[in-house]
Amino acid sequence: MILVTGGAGFIGANFVLDWLASQDEAVLNLDKLTYAGNLENLASLEGDARHVFVQGDICDRALVDGLLARYKPRALVHFAAESHVDRSIHGPGEFMRTNVEGTFSLLEAARNHWSALPAGEKDSFRFHHVSTDEVYGSLSPEAAPFSEVHPYEPNSPYSASKAASDHLVRAWHHTYGLPVTTSNCSNNYGPYHFPEKLIPLVIVNALAGKPLPIYGDGQQIRDWLYVGDHCAAIRRILEVGRLGETYNVGGWNEMANLDIVRQVCVLLDELRPRADGQSYFTQITHVTDRPGHDRRYAIDARKIERELGWRPAETFATGIRKTVAWYLDNQDWVAHVQSGAYREWVSRNYEARA
Ligand code: NAD
Ligand code: TYD
Repeated sequence: MILVTGGAGFIGANFVLDWLASQDEAVLNLDKLTYAGNLENLASLEGDARHVFVQGDICDRALVDGLLARYKPRALVHFAAESHVDRSIHGPGEFMRTNVEGTFSLLEAARNHWSALPAGEKDSFRFHHVSTDEVYGSLSPEAAPFSEVHPYEPNSPYSASKAASDHLVRAWHHTYGLPVTTSNCSNNYGPYHFPEKLIPLVIVNALAGKPLPIYGDGQQIRDWLYVGDHCAAIRRILEVGRLGETYNVGGWNEMANLDIVRQVCVLLDELRPRADGQSYFTQITHVTDRPGHDRRYAIDARKIERELGWRPAETFATGIRKTVAWYLDNQDWVAHVQSGAYREWVSRNYEARA
């Protein structure tokens, strides 16, 4: 089996669902179930013996040691993290604990387990670390996209904590020989995306008749990748990725935030027109910018294509249509995640913005 951390979150849950849909190898899923973890994402696996869920913290060394000894996974795929930049600005402590200390603790547990394995199993063991393009910092409009050798220049507490975790993973390979790979991916979107992030927030707010908040001028650029394509890239790296290497994963799809929001509005106007006949565009509102807001991210994904033969299958047009349709078909899921804690976050993040 494989051990997945953070498999009840957005990308982790998509990864577990895709994994079990395409093969029979079991998944041990370790997740703390923070506000971002949701077992409803995995409801379709209920009664499936190939999925073992354990609620727990990656920082709990005794728990992780016990799981490794009991289940002997052949690989570990590490998604668990605090993942939202705005939350890291309001409260960076949890980001340092989970993203930095948690990754350190997991690396030590994996090293302890791996070093005692018999030779054959030792050679095939893998630790895959899931990271972000945000570790590279911000690009000027004319700069080339981030390649794997771009200097690390993280600007937010979130990206600094992910950069630190990437460095730990690298060091555990170079110093101890732990068989690691790392991927640095651009912004994902798709089903089960928690509605604190731009795309699901805009869909949910639009349908509720609420403002669609654009930070600053809305001309900040991100590269967007459909989550299923990210999961396929990670599977490919696990299969044939070279040890100690990092792979940049992206959708070749740079877009300004305002254009993303407009595209979501166009789809909603088509699929769920407003009762008053007006466009969802009328709900777009500019609000105070995020402090230290990175202006542009872009990914050069040629290495993973050249070496591992991976390319995204979805275009933004196909992926965003599927995503909007999923939210329209899963209004119960949306209603359940909009708990008291979610409402508190929304008022904390948006009420102070002009
Ligand atoms: P998410 O916030 O939706 O999910 C994180 C999951 O980790 C949740 O299920 C949460 O309960 C769990 N978790 C948090 N702290 C934990 C702890 N201490 N112990 C165990 N579990 C814990 O995040 P996501 O968007 O699915 O991102 C997953 C990974 O991918 C993260 O490492 C993130 O940095 C990386 N990533 C995300 C994106 C993106 O666009 N979302 C892009 C590139 C990389
Ligand atoms: P987000 O989805 O939080 O991802 P990240 O910060 O990791 O890129 O934000 C994507 C972009 O959208 C980012 O430039 C910030 C912007 N944004 C808004 O304009 N309004 C919002 O309400 C949110 C949540 C994000």
